[in-house]
Amino acid sequence: MKCRSCRAPAVIDVYRHNAAFCHPCFLRHCREQVERAIKSFDMIHPGERVLVAVSGGKDSLALWDILLQAEMSADGLYVGLGIGDYSSESRRYARAFAELRGAKLVEIDLPTDFGYDIPTGSSAAKRAPCSACGLSKRHLFNQAALDGGYDVLATGHNLDDEAAVLFGNVLRWDLPYLGRQFPVLPSGDGFARKVKPLVRLSERETAAYCVLQGIDYIVEECPMSAGNRHLRYKEALNDIEARSPGSKAAFYFGFLERLAPLVTPAAEEEREGLHPCPRCGSPTVSEVCAFCKLAARAGGHS
Ligand code: AMP
Ligand code: FES
Ligand code: ZN
Repeated sequence: MKCRSCRAPAVIDVYRHNAAFCHPCFLRHCREQVERAIKSFDMIHPGERVLVAVSGGKDSLALWDILLQAEMSADGLYVGLGIGDYSSESRRYARAFAELRGAKLVEIDLPTDFGYDIPTGSSAAKRAPCSACGLSKRHLFNQAALDGGYDVLATGHNLDDEAAVLFGNVLRWDLPYLGRQFPVLPSGDGFARKVKPLVRLSERETAAYCVLQGIDYIVEECPMSAGNRHLRYKEALNDIEARSPGSKAAFYFGFLERLAPLVTPAAEEEREGLHPCPRCGSPTVSEVCAFCKLAARAGGHS
């Protein structure tokens, strides 16, 4: 197996591209895919300040590394979710990465700063853990980006994540969710711009990037995500991908090209009916926002 770019012995093949790469050319391939996503979706402009949400996992650390390598101004944001050893371990990886690169890591701790953790929040609100967790993270990421005066908030969602979420949204024909499933969401009243620069890379590629680039990341999955339906969708798509390489990318990018233009205007209109939450100021349709409700039910505060 030879590298597609330089014909040196390859260390990894990427079936989707029908290509193999040597060590340096693979790292370059990953950086080029991120650059291409940033340019084609107009995600980040030169000189902008980026806040990268880092979980300590492979995707977000690879993303932070790639943005730093591209000499962007990129600080990290770690949110402690209070999920026992998993949280303390993942924080350790995020901190170690920041220290090694001399990069700034902003830290928020849900139990210390807001008085509740995800296990308590999820049972108090009778929500699945991942739903309470996703809601809390979305709120805190947005708030941290606005408070810190960042131009853009970047997350490490990759092609597998986005294809699995799309699969779920299509199974339910959930048009409002489909309308918001774009790799860049513009800023607006109370909203920071959100971007997903890894959409052109698969999970396998981000893991290989970390290994080849010497980035230590937490390998364990969150213990509360077992049985999560997105994991099932990922498995189903992996089966299809193994038989017909390229299906996942065709599914996701076909959606962005053909269906997204039809469903995003409705989602944009939805934003117009929002008002600031009286407790925390976040945009909401309800009297009090979902984050403040969750925090209050879990015995915390916002
Ligand atoms: P997940 O929702 O766990 O699939 O994570 C998706 C993305 O959200 C990751 O790639 C990170 O960018 C971000 N993220 C997840 N958990 C955290 C965390 N505890 N702190 C900061 N960012 C996170
Ligand atoms: Fe959110 Fe596991 S990281 S429930
Ligand atoms: Zn609120």
